[in-house]
Amino acid sequence: MIIDPSTFTLPRAAQLFVVFEGINGCGKSTLLGNVARALEAAHHQVITTREPGGTPLGIEIRSLLLDWKGEKKSPLAELLLFAADRAEHREKLIQPALSKGKTVLCDRYLYSTIAFQGYGRGLSREWIDTANSLATQGLVPDLAILMDLDPREGLQRTKSRTSSGRDAFEEEEVAFHHRIRDGFLEMAQLLPVPFLILNGADSKEVNASKAAKVLGI
Ligand code: TYD
Repeated sequence: MIIDPSTFTLPRAAQLFVVFEGINGCGKSTLLGNVARALEAAHHQVITTREPGGTPLGIEIRSLLLDWKGEKKSPLAELLLFAADRAEHREKLIQPALSKGKTVLCDRYLYSTIAFQGYGRGLSREWIDTANSLATQGLVPDLAILMDLDPREGLQRTKSRTSSGRDAFEEEEVAFHHRIRDGFLEMAQLLPVPFLILNGADSKEVNASKAAKVLGI
């Protein structure tokens, strides 16, 4: 469900679970940092984390997944590794933090799997949904923030990173990233979770203030 930031504010809750999604190089991680600071200033207890790699096991899975120099992985093996990372992360970090009344801001969550492994790699939606429901056990965010950007612009930004900062997905052709962008936009329309779509070409300040408004801060 796409929400309109000028009219929609999340209902007040002790704890919030917010995820940040988008193509590579869209600027979601910068936005996450800005939102975390704004929430802390408004006296929320905030945990920032990411997928893959939000737990010790996840850090090991991340390095297996994002290695872009080794042999190409089977798409199904890749899906199951992302799911394993998410299962560990949800059980060991996200759920315990939410049950202590903390606000969790997560850089990527199950929508990245639908976008990258589904729309990108072409795995069946049935497999993706099965892997995601096992990993999440039904835990969906209160809000998904989708930073939308033209993939050519996103790839330009990631190319300026050092080779050690790049990952296997950034090495894919432009068409792959277009499928992912279109997939995220379609999901935002079709899924019941509220999606705030921001324009990655807008300034950091404009985007941070739209997100703050929706979060009621
Ligand atoms: P990330 O470190 O967020 O990369 P970036 O900063 O470029 O956005 O994510 C790592 C990569 O993993 C990214 O290319 C997207 C990919 N990914 C998937 O393919 N499926 C998933 O379920 C997740 C969480 C990430």
